[in-house]
Amino acid sequence: MSVEVQVSAKTTPEDRLLAPHGGVLIDRFVPAQSRDRLWVQATDLPKLGLLRRELADLLLIAEGALSPLHGFQDSAQVETILEQGRLPTGLAWTIPITLQAKGISVGPGSEVALVDEDGHLRGVMQVEERFRLDLERVATRVYGTTDPEHPGVKVLRTEDPVRLAGKVQVFAGVGSVDPYRLSPEQTRAELNRRGFTEVAAFQTRNPLHRSHEYLLRIALEVSDGLLLHPLVGETKAGDIPAEVRMECYRVLVDHYLPKERVLLATLDTAMRYAGPAEAIHHAILRQNYGASRLIVGRDHAGVGKYYGPFDAHVRFDRYEPSALAIRPLKVDVTFWCKACGGTASTKSCAHDASQRVELSGTEVRRRLEAGEALPAEFSRPEVAEVLGRYYRSIRS
Ligand code: ADX
Repeated sequence: MSVEVQVSAKTTPEDRLLAPHGGVLIDRFVPAQSRDRLWVQATDLPKLGLLRRELADLLLIAEGALSPLHGFQDSAQVETILEQGRLPTGLAWTIPITLQAKGISVGPGSEVALVDEDGHLRGVMQVEERFRLDLERVATRVYGTTDPEHPGVKVLRTEDPVRLAGKVQVFAGVGSVDPYRLSPEQTRAELNRRGFTEVAAFQTRNPLHRSHEYLLRIALEVSDGLLLHPLVGETKAGDIPAEVRMECYRVLVDHYLPKERVLLATLDTAMRYAGPAEAIHHAILRQNYGASRLIVGRDHAGVGKYYGPFDAHVRFDRYEPSALAIRPLKVDVTFWCKACGGTASTKSCAHDASQRVELSGTEVRRRLEAGEALPAEFSRPEVAEVLGRYYRSIRS
């Protein structure tokens, strides 16, 4: 017997923000009235264990953050993503969202119970396809490299190439709750409550240094409001843990930014370090949360020297507005200029490189790991204090 129940797509006529990618916010949560019945039926299904990063995307699918997806993607979708950076409908899409079969022998027409790493039931998938993903081709097309040292490729190489595709239904209210997590629907409701129409979103995986802050201020100058949306999913070793970063964001907003114009909320998905491809992915997600712009600075979602500093800017130019409605707010390299006595970018500063203190997350981490203080040009003192405390705790 099929356990498929009616799940809905959300429409909110009073929403003044940019419409979600594909037009409607997908809702793949099991409705309350079907929950008990489906839960009982799911306990008899074969179980598929989800990795933390897969579970994160499952929850994003359920709450519509990955609209227009209804489930894990099939080979036809992966094919157009890899070849054209689009879904078969022509909508922009750059990162395949797929589910590893991990040895479980089910095929099309079956249903599987999706369980998390603690064995808790989280949802059900109707399997529509079982297929083999060419991981080397994904590396080349998405990451632009097959180098095993690339952190995204490194993860890819640990994966089972066999994938299961199909629509999902997800049980709400299972698992721990992050107080800063807002669904797209909740985020849109809050942005609407504040009277915003044009919202800029900021993606980050780092504590915010002064260059980041400058980007936030540029966005605040030209938008109704800012969605400060740090990624708190899996990151590579050496990146600063999300709880520490959250404290940094909180103190920065509390001490320096207009609180009514900044909404701080988390995004739980894994960092892929896929540079330009991931910049498009980050934009699609933020459009679903209600943003009309994504701030895209130097080497967005990049790592090492795999991508040029403005490859992500250029990647947005491939898409017509009907394929990708959210626009990038492109910002050049920003730095502290000693001659200007302030933060500036290559577009707004007359001085040469000798006057510049180049700010980057990597440099901030390097200094902190070496036990060096962060000067005022790098970081607000309140943020430096949080980071200093964290690095002292891991050294002792
Ligand atoms: S990312 O992986 O999430 O992109 P990070 O948190 O460092 O890393 O960057 C967040 C955003 O700030 C990205 O859009 C990035 O391009 C931008 N950015 C970071 N540092 C600079 C800088 N010095 N100049 C311009 N943009 C920057």
